[in-house]
Amino acid sequence: MGKSQQPQPENIPQHVAIIMDGNGRWALSRGKPRLAGHRAGTENLRRVIRASVEFGVKYLTIYAFSTENWGRPQAEIKGLMHIFENVIDKELDELHQEGVQLRHIGRLEKLAPKLRKKVLDAIKLTENNTRLVLNIAFNYGGRDEIIYAIQNMLKEGVAPEEVNIEMVNNHLFTVGTPDPDLVIRTSGELRTSNFLIWQSAYSEWYITPTYWPDFGKEEYAKALKTYTERDRRFGGVSDEHYD
Ligand code: FPP
Repeated sequence: MGKSQQPQPENIPQHVAIIMDGNGRWALSRGKPRLAGHRAGTENLRRVIRASVEFGVKYLTIYAFSTENWGRPQAEIKGLMHIFENVIDKELDELHQEGVQLRHIGRLEKLAPKLRKKVLDAIKLTENNTRLVLNIAFNYGGRDEIIYAIQNMLKEGVAPEEVNIEMVNNHLFTVGTPDPDLVIRTSGELRTSNFLIWQSAYSEWYITPTYWPDFGKEEYAKALKTYTERDRRFGGVSDEHYD
């Protein structure tokens, strides 16, 4: 990639969140099984993590398995669990060396004890890394996350008048992570699919027809560049637009 196509540091989104969609259709269009699409998607994820470090993104959140994905055929669920385990086994050392801090959002309870332990160990190993925070949304749902926050506020005896945006933020799985500046969705679907529905209230969106396995560094750079050209108003109007 030429220097001129590299996203420039000013206005780089601090937090990018990605709905990695289209693995199945990518595979189907090549006459391959769906899991081959997820494997190709995993390869692409490596590229995008590396590019995130290179471009200076500080938080990357990826939607790897939703609370609704349990409705898929058993073989695909097993395959996705296996891929998650494999990613930790094969990539953890390098991610750690690169200064990536791994975090998980969602419910770990429903995962097999062996996988759960691997995730917790990976989180522990990388907890002091600061170059990039990689949030893996696995068994994650935005509505489930809001229920989790409400349940915990009730358990703690938070009074109704104490409930405000900050209080809710502090009870979400994403506590401590700034809201996503940019949400990317591949494969052209125009919906949020229960991803970071609270946190993305004012996120910018980049939606592309490209299937996830084909969304490489070049298009990532384009998405970041598009973001730098957006005028974020957060519902307000600046004085310069008023006469
Ligand atoms: C959506 O494509 C993708 C997923 C549900 C899984 C995403 C997983 C990866 C990219 C592998 C990396 C995983 C981990 C755990 C780090 P789809 O299957 O819905 O595609 P389709 O809409 O074309 O059928």
